[in-house]
Amino acid sequence: MAQLRVRPGAPLRGRARIPGDKSISNRFLILAALAEGESRACGWLASEDTMATLRCMAMLGAEIERPEETEVIVWGHGLHSLREPNDVLYCESSGTTIRLLAGLLAGQPFTSVLTGSEQLRRRPMGRVTQPLRQMGATVLGRNGGNLPPLAIHGGKLSGIDYVLPIASAQVKSALLLAGLFADGPSVVREPAPARDHTERLLQAMGVSLTCEDSVISLSPPTSPLRPLILDVPGDFSSAAFLLGAALLVPGSEVILEGVGVNPTRTGLWDVLLAMGADLERLEERVSGGEPLADLRASTVEGMVGTIIAGALVPRMIDEFPLLAVLATQAEGETVVRDAAELRVKESDRVATVVEELRKMGAQIEPMTDGFIVTGRTPLRGNLVDAHGDHRLAMALTVAGLIAEGETVVEGAECISKSFPEFPELLADLGAEVEYR
Ligand code: S3P
Repeated sequence: MAQLRVRPGAPLRGRARIPGDKSISNRFLILAALAEGESRACGWLASEDTMATLRCMAMLGAEIERPEETEVIVWGHGLHSLREPNDVLYCESSGTTIRLLAGLLAGQPFTSVLTGSEQLRRRPMGRVTQPLRQMGATVLGRNGGNLPPLAIHGGKLSGIDYVLPIASAQVKSALLLAGLFADGPSVVREPAPARDHTERLLQAMGVSLTCEDSVISLSPPTSPLRPLILDVPGDFSSAAFLLGAALLVPGSEVILEGVGVNPTRTGLWDVLLAMGADLERLEERVSGGEPLADLRASTVEGMVGTIIAGALVPRMIDEFPLLAVLATQAEGETVVRDAAELRVKESDRVATVVEELRKMGAQIEPMTDGFIVTGRTPLRGNLVDAHGDHRLAMALTVAGLIAEGETVVEGAECISKSFPEFPELLADLGAEVEYR
């Protein structure tokens, strides 16, 4: 197991380029394989999750080449070009991979089996398998189809009109992918807007898809899908850890270049501004249908607590471990509600964030659907555990940057799931971190 050792020290200063967005990098591989012609992504994220998707798509017959670490070419042969895989599709620990592929495979006239790591095999799949069965796919899995491995025999699907019980981009995307292969239009109704990268990419490929007031309607394509040429924006969810570090470590100022600022992803930005953070967007632009900007963060004294609930939650669903750390340094209470989804992420993020931050002296109370942090509390270095959860590992590292003495994050190898360069980028900005 790898350890990340971190000590408080010099201010963080400088510019950094954030690796590509994980959600877009995953979706690119799946969608480009269905297009007709050559798709190309620059700035593609090479990480454990995206490599899992790449290997699964290759096993389904997709022609994929990686001329460079962060450049991917896919030669798409059309909507009906995939073939039956000759082995189990192994999704590692990637929830996006297994859930999006479940949707894709529901539309294929062959049988495939999806599985993954022990961590993934504990995560709920009923949210996708149940509506996919409703569309006509045969789906088997442990626990009545709720847990992987999942065996899927797809084929003739009917369109669906489905009210999502939870705001989930993975479920929404799985249904839109299946909807491409259905015999009529599909409608997906969201309780609150979750990330909309699938919708944007499908529109760029020429699919007839509309989004209005959280209602997404898609008609199965009648002509070939256009290939994608993408410059993948930097992942806001990765950038968030460096922004958070810069806000907390005295005397810091960092600029993160080319970060995606799709409004369905930047809930944390809005929350931090409300808490009094010193943040600025520079050079705002649009690339490949996604908004991006350079993001500046400087240290600020006197942040104040806030309340996060309702539609804000899906817009920052991956940022709660970091938010908890930032809240320890804000005056008063920060309350997170309506976030029961945190309990079914890579770890039970309510339980693990509370357990580990308490080891560092934080005042944090769990609730069934969130937590309450009371600040400001000085943090102290300690031996803490990542629980196999990349975002917890990175949040604890940020906490270590302002804690007294040394913090050792045990199990830090999970960071490779989404942001392998994190320790190196942090060190380049001036942090005292050591990864071994
Ligand atoms: C993702 C959606 C979110 C997010 C995950 C990536 C995606 O999951 O937490 O990191 O790429 O669609 P849910 O859809 O389960 O909220």
